[in-house]
Amino acid sequence: MDYQRIRHPIPPLYDKESRILILGSFPSVKSREAAFFYGHPQNRFWKLLAALFSEDAPVTVEEKSAFLHRNHVAVWDTIASCEIQGSSDSSIKNVQVNDLSVILDHAPIERIYCNGAKSHEYYRKYIQEKTGTEAVKLPSTSPANAAFGLEKLMDHWRQILIPLRIAPAGIGRSLLSWYDFNGRILPWRSDPTPYHVWISEIMLQQTRVEAVKDYYDRWMQELPDIPSLAGVSDEKLMKLWEGLGYYNRARNLKEAAITIMEKYGGQLPCDYEELLSLKGIGSYTAGAIASIAFGQPRAAVDGNVLRIFSRILMEPGKINSARTKGYLEREVLRTMPRERPGDYNQSLMDLGATVCLPNGQPLCEKCPWESICRAHNKGTECDYPVKEQKRPRRVEERAVFLIEWEGKYLLHKRERKGLLAGLWELPNLEGRYTLEKAGEEVAARGFYDYILEPLGEGKHIFSHVEWHMTGYRVRLQTLTKRLRRILDEDADWTLATRRELEESYALPSAFDRFKKQIDNS
Ligand code: ADE
Repeated sequence: MDYQRIRHPIPPLYDKESRILILGSFPSVKSREAAFFYGHPQNRFWKLLAALFSEDAPVTVEEKSAFLHRNHVAVWDTIASCEIQGSSDSSIKNVQVNDLSVILDHAPIERIYCNGAKSHEYYRKYIQEKTGTEAVKLPSTSPANAAFGLEKLMDHWRQILIPLRIAPAGIGRSLLSWYDFNGRILPWRSDPTPYHVWISEIMLQQTRVEAVKDYYDRWMQELPDIPSLAGVSDEKLMKLWEGLGYYNRARNLKEAAITIMEKYGGQLPCDYEELLSLKGIGSYTAGAIASIAFGQPRAAVDGNVLRIFSRILMEPGKINSARTKGYLEREVLRTMPRERPGDYNQSLMDLGATVCLPNGQPLCEKCPWESICRAHNKGTECDYPVKEQKRPRRVEERAVFLIEWEGKYLLHKRERKGLLAGLWELPNLEGRYTLEKAGEEVAARGFYDYILEPLGEGKHIFSHVEWHMTGYRVRLQTLTKRLRRILDEDADWTLATRRELEESYALPSAFDRFKKQIDNS
């Protein structure tokens, strides 16, 4: 075969998120024809990378390009032009090498790998001096390297997963084995119907498992199915949720139940997108329902799961960023054993809740992933996840009044919008009041015959606000005309006995500190 002088016909593939660069020597005839890397059908490059990344092998040039970008792999070759006979690496002579600064100046490449000895030889001889970095020599994926089967290639190439921060395949199964012995026994797990999973997942948002158990059991006794939820009164709904916080969760549940009755014949849809379209169901809850109740391979990624994956992969990106979340979610899916998606999601929840704990307290010695956790192996588990500096919560001072008339307590229904919207509250005023000033405020509202006493201080923390409260008991000796009129005319004010309060009025736990003092009256 004749020698031909050929210029490299394929531009480098990289982007500003490429983490590794894989360099071949020179494209084969097939690759030159296809104008894309590794075009020879017997070259194991695509099969090998797909197996390492637990993905299907890409087929078209578009798929191959997307596959490399998605996994942060840059690809090029060491040789810019040469004389060559056909595809024969060994025939290459009179070489000019590529200038890698095109890639290295624009992409955060952490490591350079050479696909085969020839590529490595040119890199060492002509390129290394310029880049100042050694490249790792990996066995060639070319069909000419018949001594290396796919398994053996994988053993050598597996190291590229480290800079790529790709979770090793197979770790999902080891976590499932751990879960089979250590998973928590929880009320909603014994019969994971779509309705049970949905209600439990909504209750569990921002709420501890221990706190949810009783609420869940009570809810299922009162509202055992979607029709009963769709038809429940708002008062009863709030009462069932009283103390759980984030009350919109309950309102959204009812709204979604009504939609399910109207649109889906009373059955939660199994389609992920349809689940997402329901009020109050975001990607986490849709993923949990789809995987736990319907057995679909969907991730359910919450703060616990992000913490675990940011540690095992030593993810340096801010955990709040959509990019970091998207990437970690892909790693969850990558490691998910396809035969048990729901159990896998729940095993991650349990690992996060019982072992991979936040706030500097992980119990690494109990972790089934201790040996593969990159952060643990470097002793840096407490540095992950990387967080944005939190803005401090706004502090609101409030005076709270326990106003009592003949064994009943004055309650007010809050505005229909904003914090604790539409829930009952003990009357309160913004600001800090001394006993004397509190008395003036009471008198200014037309009360004249009462005994005022301090009830001490209390604090309640919401997600963005803290209430610092000072309580006052107001024992009315007379029911003023003004108050009587308000009670008659305005449905947002009422007097309730302690028992009525317990049974029919949802009073948020922010008022617990003063509600408790009703007993002592
Ligand atoms: N936290 C959120 N969802 C959960 C679940 N299904 N089991 C345990 N903890 C959880």
